[in-house]
Amino acid sequence: MISEIAEYDDVLAEPAGEAPSAPMRVLVAGGAGYIGSVVTRLLLAEGHRVTVLDDLSTGHADAVPDGVELVQSDIADAGTVLGRGGFDGVLHFAAKSLVGESVSNPAKYWRTNVCGTRALLDAVAEHHVPRFVFSSTAAVYGEQDAIPITEDAPTRPTNPYGASKLSVDMMLTGECAATGLGAVSLRYFNVAGAAWGAGERHGTETHLIPLALDAAAGRRGPLTIFGEDWPTPDGTPIRDYIHVADLARAHVSALGAARPGRHLICNLGSGQGFSVRQVLDTITDVTGRDVPQQVGPRRAGDPARLIASHDRARAELGWQPQHDLADMVRDAWDFARGLANR
Ligand code: UFG
Repeated sequence: MISEIAEYDDVLAEPAGEAPSAPMRVLVAGGAGYIGSVVTRLLLAEGHRVTVLDDLSTGHADAVPDGVELVQSDIADAGTVLGRGGFDGVLHFAAKSLVGESVSNPAKYWRTNVCGTRALLDAVAEHHVPRFVFSSTAAVYGEQDAIPITEDAPTRPTNPYGASKLSVDMMLTGECAATGLGAVSLRYFNVAGAAWGAGERHGTETHLIPLALDAAAGRRGPLTIFGEDWPTPDGTPIRDYIHVADLARAHVSALGAARPGRHLICNLGSGQGFSVRQVLDTITDVTGRDVPQQVGPRRAGDPARLIASHDRARAELGWQPQHDLADMVRDAWDFARGLANR
């Protein structure tokens, strides 16, 4: 279980891969959000100096740990922070990330994820920041015939969210070649769980595990399964779930793996797929509660099956996941109950 700050020691005892040996000064764009706030905690624990830039449109000021400066501003204003000088790297989590919303409001996704990132990269170039770690996504792949999905698979996003992230990946390839920036795109599969006191608390929650946990706890009505007519063994979509603590370790390793002029792209997933029904069964096993559920229509933009190959992350970052789906559910459940008790 990963819920106590004291367990930093356990994390630090793990093989560090290419984790940077010298402390760095980094800007975490989107550090008040779910994944950014977990990564910020790990960076701090490893001795790095962190400034968070977040407009708090979806993040929470109290998710930023004590001792970390929070600059409440748009990523387009990153130059005002980076202009202070001395930054060794930027980790960029600040984005819109809901598949369904991206289908109904694509302009928001192009504006924030693409135009916003372009402005951030302009500031990175202007102030000579050498390293950039980008939150990309498995949504760039869309439907694939070959499973598990490698980074060389053709990119066929099925929604504007995935397309906007793919555009940034392509932007970074050119940026590295032209400016000497060292960038790492981390293509997340389905992130879940909580770590070191930080977890998921989206104003509008759309993700399977937190919604199903809320349904199990009676905090909301039955979970709607989005279709049971998919071409999968039990008819529900299959995803590759990855613990946010494992994901955080990959980011610290990626900072160390950034090389001038190189754009490295790595998948972050467990290599194992679970259907929606299998996730709900795991929730019942871990929590001892049934998940009230009903079947609805498919959700626009959903692919049937996404499972990662993480061979490249293992080779380049010295990384491999250490937590399973039951850990993710247990840690998310503990985090949600902690919030409910506040
Ligand atoms: N699902 C339901 N009911 C719900 C919510 C989700 O059946 O109420 C299903 C979805 O159809 C999907 C699965 O549960 O099959 C997982 O859905 P999530 O919304 O939790 O996650 P997504 O797979 O849609 O997307 C997530 C991230 C994306 C990322 C993607 C990569 O939100 O940013 O994983 O796999 F791109």
